Amino acid sequence: MTKVAVWCRHAHDNVIGIGPHIPWKISSDFKRFRRITEGKSLVAGEKTYESFPNRTLPNRQIYVLTFNAKYKVSDEQNHFVVSDIEEFADIDDELYIAGGASVYKAFMTGGDTLMPDIVVDSMYLGELNPDLQGKKVDITDCINVLNEKYFRISQEYEEDNVITTVWVKKGDFVDQMVIKHIIKAIENQGEE
Ligand SMILES: NC(=O)c1ccc[n+]([C@@H]2O[C@H](COP(=O)([O-])OP(=O)(O)OC[C@H]3O[C@@H](n4cnc5c(N)ncnc54)[C@H](OP(=O)(O)O)[C@@H]3O)[C@@H](O)[C@H]2O)c1
Repeated sequence: MTKVAVWCRHAHDNVIGIGPHIPWKISSDFKRFRRITEGKSLVAGEKTYESFPNRTLPNRQIYVLTFNAKYKVSDEQNHFVVSDIEEFADIDDELYIAGGASVYKAFMTGGDTLMPDIVVDSMYLGELNPDLQGKKVDITDCINVLNEKYFRISQEYEEDNVITTVWVKKGDFVDQMVIKHIIKAIENQGEE
């Protein structure tokens, strides 16, 4: 099983959200995320899941991480509640970790069985939306782990002021088919 964390953070401060919102609106960033995760299984924290339009992402199986085992998902065929993160330790499928900050951190600092094998690190170089109110949410803890325990295996891909690179956990065997899928999804810049 291969776990892949996918995020877009703001350069320098590693902010990924303000309140419930992503503080930039770059359609190519959403499209890249869609190309990487379409047809796959992903895990999202309850707050991030609530922020998806209509609480869904088409053509994806979503595991919603929440301590509330009675949480009601929007699509019972394709979305599933998980309350114990350790259930992902030996899941057979490919799993894409879609945030938010608490979920990235739980996986990145979760030891060998939870740490993502691959990280797709997108970095936004522009300005944060100045109109948003709320607390800034950052993933600095995760970036510290990334710099210490991963190495970069890709070139820098630039699109619309976002630089994307792919990282692999040091000492890990990584499924080459998954790497190929991710690189292809990133390189298909500008495509739907
Ligand atoms: N830029 C990006 O790439 C990106 C991607 C995703 C999200 N975001 C942003 O990130 C922010 C949200 O991040 P967040 O950290 O506040 O919220 P979050 O991680 O989306 O959700 C937090 C909730 O997930 C559940 N949870 C977290 N860890 C758990 C665990 N180990 N076991 C069981 N349940 C667990 C808890 O739900 P309960 O309270 O229901 O128990 C917790 O309150 C938003 O601003 C969002 O827009 C940005």
